[in-house]
Amino acid sequence: MKVSVSSKHCERFLEQGELVSFIKKAEDGYQKVLDSSGEGSDFLGWRDLPSSLSDEETEKIQATADCLKKMADVLIVIGIGGSYLGSLAAISSLKRFSSHDKMEIIFAGNNMCSSRYEEIFDKCRDKEVAVNVISKSGSTTETAIAFRIFRSYMEKRYGRDASKRIVMTTGSKGTLRDIAEKEGYVTFLVPEDVGGRYSVLSHVGLLPIACAGISIKELIAGARQAQKDFLVKEDNQAVRYAALRNAFYNKGKVNEITVTNRDNMKLFSSWFQQLFAESEGKDEKGILPVPAFFTSDLHSVGQYIQNGLRNMFETVIEIKEDINIPIPDFASDGFLFLDGKTVGEINEKALTASVIAHEDGGVPVIRINLGELSPYTLGYAFYFFESACAVSAYTLGVNPFNQPSVEEYKKNMFALLGKEGYEELGERLKSRL
Ligand code: PA5
Repeated sequence: MKVSVSSKHCERFLEQGELVSFIKKAEDGYQKVLDSSGEGSDFLGWRDLPSSLSDEETEKIQATADCLKKMADVLIVIGIGGSYLGSLAAISSLKRFSSHDKMEIIFAGNNMCSSRYEEIFDKCRDKEVAVNVISKSGSTTETAIAFRIFRSYMEKRYGRDASKRIVMTTGSKGTLRDIAEKEGYVTFLVPEDVGGRYSVLSHVGLLPIACAGISIKELIAGARQAQKDFLVKEDNQAVRYAALRNAFYNKGKVNEITVTNRDNMKLFSSWFQQLFAESEGKDEKGILPVPAFFTSDLHSVGQYIQNGLRNMFETVIEIKEDINIPIPDFASDGFLFLDGKTVGEINEKALTASVIAHEDGGVPVIRINLGELSPYTLGYAFYFFESACAVSAYTLGVNPFNQPSVEEYKKNMFALLGKEGYEELGERLKSRL
């Protein structure tokens, strides 16, 4: 399997030779990823994750998941940003591929909404519960709040046995690791050289995915293939995609509408959005990924895409599904042209119709075909987009692996909450309240 990036519906927006020139620029970015010569190169651990994760380590993750599945019905996954979006994307996209002994996965600690906690307590009332806390730094406030709440819940409910039901995925140092060691939790290490949004193929993503009954072996096999394909310079599709994105950005197309026409791929778009926005949006540069779901959004933002400000290009992420439900024939409903067709076929036609309409409306459309939906395909897709993102960010001229500006809101929040060391900022903020 190989992902294909088609420029058929966008090339006419480029001048002669423009794509070739951007491919050359993207190849320089690609080289930086390969030979670790770019900024942030100490965070390139994701590049080798699929091949460096040994079969033994994969078995260990699977064995932990099997053990959790035996003792609990529900796994509460506590984490935010890169610490949960990858597993959320995989679990929601691949529900159909889950084994019967799967756990229900509930994500917590990715916001500060009080009512969400109430909902989770209600859901867990008659169920056996386990917890996986995920934080590379161990110092993220949202995660810390949720962990305080669920640690206390688990200790009240299970007493000393709570520690057998809590798994910690964290960096080699920090508060969480200290707590884990003291309490005797099972722990997994987030590698130093893998950043949050590039961590889905590490223990961060793999443990929750395995608990959801999805084959991590297949997922890793897909990612390994993507890694092999990425290493081949000729006709490299990640480079091609990075080149196209940068070519359109250079023309003032600063928004990328990322389209999927499969309901189950919606949360994959959220993972994609974080990956690209947090990697590229810095130094007052960057393409803003805006997820859209067709056909529902064709009846809302579709108007803007077709005829609003011409500052966007579109990337359609296509995936095939083998489910094709036939539509019953009703002679009198005025939709005779649908007779004999399936929902899947009609969805394909609707997508093609919108691609052509948007191209005609002045929106360049990149089509990325991922093939048939499976854990293998998704593993491939994770690696493909991680590599394309790193190449694209280097082509744009930014460090793909840091997120310095995320700290700004955190500092203000600490000051407003009265954290020690933030008193002066707290005083300055007072005048703005
Ligand atoms: O991509 C990133 O690095 C971030 O989105 C982090 O994953 C997020 O901020 C959570 O960080 P941590 O895992 O340290 O709690």
